[in-house]
Amino acid sequence: MTPATGSMQSDDAGFRALMDKIARERGFRCSSYKDQCLRRRIAVRIRARGASGCEEYSGILDSEPREYERLMHSLTVNVTKFFRNWDTYAAISSKVIPALMDEAGPAPQVWSAGCATGEEPYSVAMLMHQYAAASGSRTRFNSASIIGTDIDRVCLDHAERAIYQESALSETPPDIRRKYFRDEGGFVALQQEVRRPVTFEYSDLLGFCAPVEKAHLILCRNVVIYFQRAAQDALIAHFHETLVPGGFLVLGKVETLLGDARRLFTPVHARERIFRKC
Ligand SMILES: C[S@@+](CC[C@H](N)C(=O)[O-])C[C@H]1O[C@@H](n2cnc3c(N)ncnc32)[C@H](O)[C@@H]1O
Repeated sequence: MTPATGSMQSDDAGFRALMDKIARERGFRCSSYKDQCLRRRIAVRIRARGASGCEEYSGILDSEPREYERLMHSLTVNVTKFFRNWDTYAAISSKVIPALMDEAGPAPQVWSAGCATGEEPYSVAMLMHQYAAASGSRTRFNSASIIGTDIDRVCLDHAERAIYQESALSETPPDIRRKYFRDEGGFVALQQEVRRPVTFEYSDLLGFCAPVEKAHLILCRNVVIYFQRAAQDALIAHFHETLVPGGFLVLGKVETLLGDARRLFTPVHARERIFRKC
């Protein structure tokens, strides 16, 4: 335990007051996140600013809007990559994309919930585009819609620009890198053809208001792990409601279905935590 985290454990009242302040002033639903996560993140900022504890840090937030932005950015944990955990994408490619692209029904609707800077929805767009090119289903690709949502507006702006550091592609297979990215002034830009179906929107998952009426595929990876169990259960029930019958839910390696939620879905790929609505 670092000194700052340690002092927060002993200053529970100070921590609670800070949480109330952030919830009140920024609409961030602190009570639905795991305490330990929030304490760790806040301790990092307190240390970075050399503050003695929550109370002094709260004063810094009042006088420095930039520090408030830094704190919010730190609380939301925005780590991501294109094709992060390639095995999950390999499973999506073989088990999910053909089902979405070969069906004759309504155009596929995909929701990447907690998309950070957009690498996840764009990765799915590339897989769908590749499949469409190989299977002659371009019309279906052109009608597809992929929406990425997050509560971090800075991340969403970045996602819309679709220009990345090379390090964001460290898990991207070379053939996909060559086909869908071009070098641009020391950065890497995503080609227009795979950007077209992807849009971004601010949406708080803890508000349980889906950005689409119905989804054929929902990806929510490395997000619910930060939520309290009750919020996780409510969110999974919300995903279930939003999915069409037979729709897919991808939770990825880190998270899984717990308790009653297991009865709502059948496993499609156990290791990569891919499920289908019963
Ligand atoms: C670690 S990133 C995951 C990115 C991507 N899904 C992946 O696995 O690579 C977690 C994202 O969840 C977002 N997030 C956290 N709480 C959220 C909430 N209540 N509603 C929507 N997004 C949230 C954060 O802003 C962050 O961008």
